[in-house]
Amino acid sequence: MSIVVKGDKLFHLSTKNTSYVFDVDYSGDLEHDTQHRAYVGNQGVLRHLYFGQRIDNTDDFVFTENFVKWTPAVHSHVDQIMEEFSSFGTLRYKETAMKVVFSDGTKDFRYNYKGHKVNGNCLTVTLEDVHYPLIVELHYEVFEEFDVIKRFVKVYNTGKEEILVERLYSAELGIADDDMQIINFNGAWSSEFQQVSESLKGGKKVFESLGGTVGHVANPSFIVHKNATEDTGEVYYGALAYTGNFKVTAEIPSKVTTYKYTNVLIGMNDNDFCHVLRGGTDFESPAVYIGYTNKGFTDMSHKMHDFCKNEIMPKNFANKPAKVLYNSWYATLFDVVCDEQKKLAKKAADAGVELFVVDDGWFGTRIGEKQGLGDWYVDKNKFPNGLSELVDYVNGLGMEFGIWIEPEMVNENSELYRNHPDWIYRFPNREPLTGRLQYTLNLTKEEVVQYMIESLDNLLSENNVTFIKWDMNRLISETGTCAPGAAACDGNYHEQKEIWYKHIQNFYRVISTIREKHPNVEFECCAGGGARIDYGAMRYFDKFWTSDNTDPIDRMEIQDGYSLLYPIKYMSAWITDDFLAGETRRPPITFRMRCSMCGALGIGNNLNELPDDDLEIIKSHIVEYKRVRDIVQFGKLYRLKNFMRDDFHAVQYVNGNKSVVFTFLLHSRYLTSKYSLKLKGLEENAMYEVKERNGTIKKSGAFLMKYGIDVNMKGDYDSQMIEIEKLA
Ligand code: DGJ
Repeated sequence: MSIVVKGDKLFHLSTKNTSYVFDVDYSGDLEHDTQHRAYVGNQGVLRHLYFGQRIDNTDDFVFTENFVKWTPAVHSHVDQIMEEFSSFGTLRYKETAMKVVFSDGTKDFRYNYKGHKVNGNCLTVTLEDVHYPLIVELHYEVFEEFDVIKRFVKVYNTGKEEILVERLYSAELGIADDDMQIINFNGAWSSEFQQVSESLKGGKKVFESLGGTVGHVANPSFIVHKNATEDTGEVYYGALAYTGNFKVTAEIPSKVTTYKYTNVLIGMNDNDFCHVLRGGTDFESPAVYIGYTNKGFTDMSHKMHDFCKNEIMPKNFANKPAKVLYNSWYATLFDVVCDEQKKLAKKAADAGVELFVVDDGWFGTRIGEKQGLGDWYVDKNKFPNGLSELVDYVNGLGMEFGIWIEPEMVNENSELYRNHPDWIYRFPNREPLTGRLQYTLNLTKEEVVQYMIESLDNLLSENNVTFIKWDMNRLISETGTCAPGAAACDGNYHEQKEIWYKHIQNFYRVISTIREKHPNVEFECCAGGGARIDYGAMRYFDKFWTSDNTDPIDRMEIQDGYSLLYPIKYMSAWITDDFLAGETRRPPITFRMRCSMCGALGIGNNLNELPDDDLEIIKSHIVEYKRVRDIVQFGKLYRLKNFMRDDFHAVQYVNGNKSVVFTFLLHSRYLTSKYSLKLKGLEENAMYEVKERNGTIKKSGAFLMKYGIDVNMKGDYDSQMIEIEKLA
């Protein structure tokens, strides 16, 4: 039984290795503690008791005395308890999970616990305002096998008057400690997923996005730990399924010694947010998937990677290995011409590529960033015989064909904008601003949604396209909806704040409609690199473009951060000729290939100009990659060594009886040419064959994990791919 409810007031959720417990605490009432009522204004508080290693005996959580003593405090008693769901108002001064405003101006939610429902692995707990017609449901779903609990919140207006929902996070999680660390990312375009682990000792730490999408800067997830390492330590983690503005807050609301704790909240950002909850309607927060381990970051990654594969990724591609793709962007930029693409395709096919993708520049009048976005028909100057000439050619070479789109955007210089200048977000009396010389289409307008669905449907129906790279190259701004020259925005002040949320819902609607119509098409999610990577997008896409930065050294750091919570099969990793890090660093092709082989391999070099010898090297590595890709994409990942801390970099993947290790050395130092490496994830008592550059050895799993192997590397930018197999 994954959910046990005792006495209609104690809730005990169990996964394979963890327990999650909360109750309705009436203790203040029982003691006629008027202070209690004075601070929260209602009877009973939903109190978070425990999240951690599994404890089976539910009765242990029945506390006969007050868990919180309601000691006199200067500010607030309720801030001293870990609440399961706190709402703005009463005497709460911490960050709360919800804020509502009733039509008479009352701004707090005072609830009574109404009851609960258990349905298989799902629990719903219902709270009702003591006066106003507002019901709040807390939803939990237990994924036992993966040690994951899904949480979301749903609010109902059972009356007639509007209620403004000004904040609705997906979850609040109290951790009974005030000395934790939090990991999120400190990224930017071309340097996504730069890990930072910061101490939480007081105050509030916020990671968020405000540009209408996930963004490069931070990620909608949290990893809170206590001096954890890859293999040891407690880690609390969560990932939000929402591709819009998000907010992760970690706060220590109470420093009162007995009741100190860290409160983590995650959900849609409340900045410029509102949902007008009309009478008789409901509103649901996105889901967040949370977990706990006492075995460090590797265990967290394994659980979340498995969970993603089994529960989040679209089913039709989740178990199929990502194909080796070629993408034209770094080779030809906007200069896409049919004949040249054919030449690239021929070379790509000869090298072993399975999917040929034409990036930006194939449509409308798209000769550069300034024009064409929105006109999703082929440029006849570039493709006089239509797209089918190239598609047929590519298919004839035995490859599938894919194409780039950026459907939420429009250039001023486009047919679409000339015909519909009112289809973008804009304010009255303001020139709309551009980002990358483009506007964002107003997805809250039904005609825009229909246009997007129709143009994508036509593109996919008229051409044998089996892969779409969906890009988004600017952040959203000026979220007003009005025609140019209009005196005012449509909708009232509160409705205008709904746009951020509605945009994302309609983005999901367009992609899911297209997926339904074209189930055999795979989708890659990109936003100027890795600015749209979250568990919400993962439900509709089959891959993430991790970063525009393909420099292998920068990239390994990015891949390391990405891999903490996101699966390797989704991690597009290409070799290109482009070096954002500068012309000064040119690691050899083998080094770059091996870096890309750590994820879903792609090739982006200008193959038409690449020396034959280099092409041969790429070709031989593609052969190797195909041999190990099931291990890489579906195996368990071990981050063994990292450039930032160690002499060299090493990642290992283990899938069943097979394992592969990639090692990278920047430069030899002090005559060292042998690097000792302890492997992980093997069976202690089994024998393995390890193929290292200097020969093949046969050793037990115990030896390989405890004593380790010698990796021979020397000089500049040396690397190895070491294959390991269990002997029968
Ligand atoms: C940004 C993406 O990250 C690139 O890979 C490429 O698709 C360009 N957009 C095209 O404009």
